Amino acid sequence: MFPWLGYGHITPYLDLAKKLTTKGFFIYLCSTEATLSSIRTKIPPNLSNSIELVPLPLEVSPDDLPEKYHTTNGLPPHLMLKLKEAFDNSKQNFSSLLQKHKPDLLIFDFLQPWAPPLAEALNIPSVIFITSSSVMTSFMFHHFSDPGAEFPSENIRFRHYESRFMDELLANARDCEEREKGSAGVNMSREIVLIKGSREIEGRYIEYVSGLTGKRFVPVGPLVQEPDDQKSSSELLSWLDQKEAKSTVFVSFGSEYFLSKEDMDGIAHGLLQSKANFIWVVRFPETEVVLEEKLPEGFLDKVGERGKIVQGWAPQTRILVHPNVGGFVSHCGWNSVMESFKFGVPIVAVPMHLDQPINARLVEEVGAGEEVLRDGDGRLNAETVAAVINRVVVEDGVRAKVDEIKARLALMGDGEIDEVARELMSICSKSLIN
Ligand code: UDX
Repeated sequence: MFPWLGYGHITPYLDLAKKLTTKGFFIYLCSTEATLSSIRTKIPPNLSNSIELVPLPLEVSPDDLPEKYHTTNGLPPHLMLKLKEAFDNSKQNFSSLLQKHKPDLLIFDFLQPWAPPLAEALNIPSVIFITSSSVMTSFMFHHFSDPGAEFPSENIRFRHYESRFMDELLANARDCEEREKGSAGVNMSREIVLIKGSREIEGRYIEYVSGLTGKRFVPVGPLVQEPDDQKSSSELLSWLDQKEAKSTVFVSFGSEYFLSKEDMDGIAHGLLQSKANFIWVVRFPETEVVLEEKLPEGFLDKVGERGKIVQGWAPQTRILVHPNVGGFVSHCGWNSVMESFKFGVPIVAVPMHLDQPINARLVEEVGAGEEVLRDGDGRLNAETVAAVINRVVVEDGVRAKVDEIKARLALMGDGEIDEVARELMSICSKSLIN
C-alpha cells in the first residue's frame, strides 16, 4: 500500500490494511518515516506480523525540506510544493522497494500516478484506493467529461463565494494535460477502483462515477479508526465527563488546515454566542505561539469552564463517541464526516477548501447536519455560527436522521470489506495465471 503523505490519507490506508489482514492479506505499508511515525502506535501487537511499515526515503536535502516535514501533517503551507516535488523525485527509491519486497498487488493513491507503471513493469497489478468521497470524485469526473454541464444532483455544487474552486476545476477539465493528470490513477487501476465510503450513504454517486469512468467503484466502508486509549488527554476527557449529555460541541478542522484570522474570530465569537459547551482544537503554522494573541481579546476569560481550547491535536474519535458530545463543527474532511456518521454525531459544516464544500453539501443532502453559510464576500458571521450550533446541537435538529444513518452503517458491518477482499484476490490470481 502506498498512500499520499497526509495523515488523512495514511489512516484510511492503515484501517483498510487492518481489515484486509482479517481476510488473510499481508500488508507492506510504504510512506516516509515522518508519515509512518503518526501511525506506528496504532498497529496493535496482534497485527505486527501482518502489517510491515516500509519507510520511503525522499530525494531532497534536509536544508530544503527537513525530515519532520516529509508529511502534510503540520507542514507550513509554503513548503507543500517542495514536498510534492521531493515525493515525485523519489520514484526510483519506490521502485527499489517494490523490487525488494515483491508484493502481489500495489494499492496506490491518486496523487502518485507514476507508481502503477513502476509496478506493472515488475508484473505487479495496481489498484487505486481513493480516500475522498464518491460525491466529490463523481463531481470531478462529471466536469472532466462535460465541463460546466449541470451535475445530476442540484444540491451538489460550489456556492457563489466558492467560485474560485469551480473556476479551477473547470480550467483543469478544459486543459487536456491537467485532465489526464487528474484521471490517470483511475485509468491505470486494474478493473476496479476502491473508494472510502459506503453504498448506504453514497450509492447513487458510486453508480454515477462508475458509469462516467468505465471502472467499477467498490466502496470499502466507512473505515473509521477505533477510539484510542491515550492517557495523556485524560484531563480533557475528565472535563467532558462533567458536562451534561449531548451538551458539548467538538470543533476541529482536520490535520492540515490553518484557519485565517477572520475565520478564527468568526468561530470564536460564534462559540461564545452559542449556548453549547465546546472543545476547540486550534492549530498554527508557527511552532511558538502565544494563544491569547491569536484569539479575540479576553476570549479565554469569557469562556471560563464552558469551553476547552486544545492546541495542536485532540483524540477526535474518543471525543466524538463521548455521550456528552452533541455535535461537531467540522471542515468536512472526508474522514471527519465518516467518523460523525459512524458515531452518530450531528455536523455543523464549515467547509474551507478542496473536497470539503462538496462533502458539506452531501452532509446536508443526507440530513446529517447543517452548513454555516458565509456572507456574500465569503466571511464567517458569528451570529450565523451560533444560530446553526444552537439548532443542530442545543435543539437536536437533525438527531433522528443521524441516529438512522448510524444504525444503517452498524447493520452493514464489514459486508463491504468481504467484497473488496474477493475483488483483490481475483485480480491477484488473474495476474498470477498470466
Ligand atoms: C485531508 C483534506 O484536508 C480533506 O479535505 C480530505 O477530505 C481528506 O484529506 P484532513 O484535513 O486532515 O484531510 O481532515 P480529515 O479527512 O477529517 O482527517 C483528519 C483525521 O485526523 C481524522 O481521522 C481525525 O479523527 C484525525 N484528527 C484530526 C485527530 O484525531 N485529532 C485532531 O486534532 C485532528
